[in-house]
Amino acid sequence: MTLVGRHLVQPADFSVEEIESVLDLGLRIKEDPSKYIRVAEGKLLATLFYEPSTRTRLSFEAAMNRLGGRIIGFSDPGASSVSKGESLEDTITTVSNYVDVIAMRHPISGAAIQASKACKIPFINAGDGKNQHPTQTLTDLLTIKACRGQLNNLTIAMCGDLKYGRTVHSLAKAMSRYTDTKFIFIAPDELKMPEEVLNDIEGINYEQTASLEEAIGKCDILYMTRVQRERFEDKAQYERLKDTYILDVEKMSKAKENMLVLHPLPRVNEIAVEVDQDPRAKYFEQAQYGMYVRMALIMKLLGIGE
Ligand code: NCD
Repeated sequence: MTLVGRHLVQPADFSVEEIESVLDLGLRIKEDPSKYIRVAEGKLLATLFYEPSTRTRLSFEAAMNRLGGRIIGFSDPGASSVSKGESLEDTITTVSNYVDVIAMRHPISGAAIQASKACKIPFINAGDGKNQHPTQTLTDLLTIKACRGQLNNLTIAMCGDLKYGRTVHSLAKAMSRYTDTKFIFIAPDELKMPEEVLNDIEGINYEQTASLEEAIGKCDILYMTRVQRERFEDKAQYERLKDTYILDVEKMSKAKENMLVLHPLPRVNEIAVEVDQDPRAKYFEQAQYGMYVRMALIMKLLGIGE
């Protein structure tokens, strides 16, 4: 299935079958990465990061390096012409003359669709404000598929900052397209899942609660998230809400034996370090799946090496 030349701004840009083809390639790469070490030779990826990141930028860069390609870009827009007042469109148009694929992160929701319209080469949204984060979703789907063997018939609980967390917005939409998905959205009133996302998953069975204790025994996947400090206008509200949920060994004792705990990371306080030893804790493995799925995505968008 070809994805050559396409943009990825939100998960819905790809059909379920197209996503499946990326995940399958990700699994094949994980089985034997040595087969793919030269497929992107001569190709260039630009990582344009207007907002801080560790995993996403490094995993894109690791992915391209492991495919034998090269990288240019910035992680501090202060060091680029953005600081001279250049428009996003002009930056993208210029960079797309230099490279074969662009991955961009931006603090403003909607910046990714705006940039993609100016982009003549494949464009990947690496997170735009509180809006979407489709490559994290590919990461999450690959982790679930690899660890559970399926993406259908799952109850997925999302816990924490569902208002500002772009990872949960993308994941909810993506999971809503599989058969018999159920959602449990766990958040305090101030951080509930936005109406637009609830409208987007219309027809899907979901419940909303403020209690992690109540929900934990019912889910197959528990997706924990950080309270997104940088998106709060009222810092006192952040301080009040930041430790609403802390997953610890005691709460884990109420969960199913085969439940998976995922987290896009970075973690602040929402998962106690003691939980890392539990075999159900998959968040660090998940970060590794993120690199493989980005390798697969780059290959698909460039039409190389399959
Ligand atoms: C997430 C993000 O940037 O949205 N991190 C990531 O990409 N792994 C989640 C977060 O920052 O909380």
